[in-house]
Amino acid sequence: QDPNRLKLIEAHELAIKFYHHLLNNTKQGSRAKNYLRERGLSDRLIDHFMIGFAPDEWDVLTRFLTGRGFDPVLMEKGGLLSAKSDGSGYVDRFRGRIMFPLWDASGKASAFGGRIIGEGGPKYLNSPETMLFTKSRTLYNLHYAKPAIRKSKQVVLFEGYMDVIKSWSAGVQNGVATMGTALTEEHCSLLRRLAEEVLLCYDGDDAGQAAAYKSIPMLEAAGLRVSVAMLPKGKDPDEYINEYGPENYMREIMDEPVSVTKFKLIYSRKNHILLKEEGRKNYLMEAIDIVAGLDSSTEREVYLKELSREFDISLDALKQDCHNIRMELQKKKPSGDNNDNSWNNGRNEKRR
Ligand code: CTP
Ligand code: MN
Ligand code: MN
Ligand code: MN
Ligand code: MN
Repeated sequence: QDPNRLKLIEAHELAIKFYHHLLNNTKQGSRAKNYLRERGLSDRLIDHFMIGFAPDEWDVLTRFLTGRGFDPVLMEKGGLLSAKSDGSGYVDRFRGRIMFPLWDASGKASAFGGRIIGEGGPKYLNSPETMLFTKSRTLYNLHYAKPAIRKSKQVVLFEGYMDVIKSWSAGVQNGVATMGTALTEEHCSLLRRLAEEVLLCYDGDDAGQAAAYKSIPMLEAAGLRVSVAMLPKGKDPDEYINEYGPENYMREIMDEPVSVTKFKLIYSRKNHILLKEEGRKNYLMEAIDIVAGLDSSTEREVYLKELSREFDISLDALKQDCHNIRMELQKKKPSGDNNDNSWNNGRNEKRR
């Protein structure tokens, strides 16, 4: 083991305890703690996730770590400190922020996400890429969620820290988050090693829904089954729990996911004005296109019947169009590729 690596993990572990202590035992920290309480976090939850506070001062952590013999050059490389621009030393990287520790999949402290208290920006400041932390391979809470994911073969994928934490307190033990960054292929294969199924639970705003739409073909390409938890317009899981309570959240959101096809239909629908004939027609064509991607004729019929009823179009007409699209797809299907799934996913990829 690289000794620098071990030192840096040790420094992170100390920093987690230090920040957690400052949250609980200082005047500045109590303001941060009140903010967390107002957001619905109990002391138990704050302890479990070891949430902390970095005071709005220049060198609290710098002095703490150097006083314990840690090399500031290494601590800067590790993303805990920043070099002063005039080269005269080091200052804390995180100042005046609520600190969310990140552990790697094996439970080693590796990074921080720091949130400002209240409004303003940037809302979150995360550790930079370091020898301990690669964003594209890190999922928040994976170390805690791992046993539950292995057991249930299912993982819930969120956007942010608070969504994971609040959902955990509502009873979701298999939740992880990508931390705002786009889902990567590495995230997907990491998840595939533990799970067979992903419940996508991104924010109910446009950005969240677009991110979900993009993530679906990636997760499917990794061999994961996907379903989608739909939140009311503009709400994220944390906000939903605050407004409606954990029981409603579990019953209405977690236990009522929709299929990927349903999600795509809802997504496409939002882009069309159904009160206008043109909008209805365009939506129908897109909807048929989505349904045509399904391999099961029974499933196709279920959705086509729904469309037929809602838009008062004969099932035969819908089926005929659907059939034609499938014929077109067959032609484009590269020869020699007999794997229906990969073919279908390839198609979805292109459609993004
Ligand atoms: N994020 C980030 N940097 C930002 C904004 C967001 O790293 N400037 C990451 C964080 O991990 C955040 C996630 O993206 O948790 C989702 O972003 P967003 O929905 O905007 O934040 P919330 O998680 O809802 O944050 P909060 O509830 O604290 O306002
Ligand atoms: Mn504690
Ligand atoms: Mn968001
Ligand atoms: Mn959010
Ligand atoms: Mn939020």
